[in-house]
Amino acid sequence: MKLYDRVHRIHRELAAQGLTPDLPLKVSDLTPFDQFHYHGTEAVEEAIAALSLKPGMRVLDIGAGIGGPARYIAERTGAHVTALELQEDLSAVGEDLTRRCGLSGLVDHRCGNVLDGVAGNFDCIVSMLCFLHIPDRARLFRVCRSVLREGGALYIEDFGRNRNATAAETEALAIKVQCPHVPTPEEYRSDLSGAGFAAVQLIDATADWTSFTASRLAAYRAARDRNVTIHGAEVVDGLDDFYATVAGLFSGGFIAGLKITAS
Ligand SMILES: C[S@@+](CC[C@H](N)C(=O)[O-])C[C@H]1O[C@@H](n2cnc3c(N)ncnc32)[C@H](O)[C@@H]1O
Repeated sequence: MKLYDRVHRIHRELAAQGLTPDLPLKVSDLTPFDQFHYHGTEAVEEAIAALSLKPGMRVLDIGAGIGGPARYIAERTGAHVTALELQEDLSAVGEDLTRRCGLSGLVDHRCGNVLDGVAGNFDCIVSMLCFLHIPDRARLFRVCRSVLREGGALYIEDFGRNRNATAAETEALAIKVQCPHVPTPEEYRSDLSGAGFAAVQLIDATADWTSFTASRLAAYRAARDRNVTIHGAEVVDGLDDFYATVAGLFSGGFIAGLKITAS
């Protein structure tokens, strides 16, 4: 998927600002580039508030990407974050960035598939735009339930669907977004309840994410010349196609943006 390959894009962005690989980093140097969900750290702040994250809490971030949300949570709250990521390349880049930020004591990068289970016991789970890649929700939520302490809570940002997909939407989702299954909000609620979660709350972010994804595409296109200079045309064309596909899925009314909390 175009968003997750060429993982060294982040190093090109940093180098463009004179931040060569030997230099230490601040979390704020990275946040414009290391948040692979919508609304960057503003969205992570919502997760922090929803879960009342505090120093000493143990948080599992599922689908951590290059660790943007995990580093931000650790620095901002003092919580300990286990950043679980499927792709080895993303996990390795994330671990190196965390080291350069001096946060290795608070952020533990692990490479693995959440469906294989996660060692440890956590107060909270955070997952930003990862579950859309995982069709086996029964197994996924079983793992989530098993790693949370009694009374623990989760915060998820994810896709739901407002209606059945057209053939073109199904193909775009499966091939360009690696999203083979999109539940309705009602199915989401019942999947979580079936796995033993209580106090399930779904907030509808569809309108906000529809406008965000359209603006993201427009901003990316407006900065095309600058981006081609830094990353080359192939990378920029790939990301342009990805951003356009996602914006089209939202503006066509298929995807529901969901922010989910449960305990
Ligand atoms: C859209 S990215 C979001 C990354 C990060 N949460 C963020 O907001 O910056 C979703 C991530 O989930 C990871 N992922 C997908 N399936 C996974 C699985 N089964 N186990 C762990 N990570 C997974 C992908 O490799 C990808 O890096």
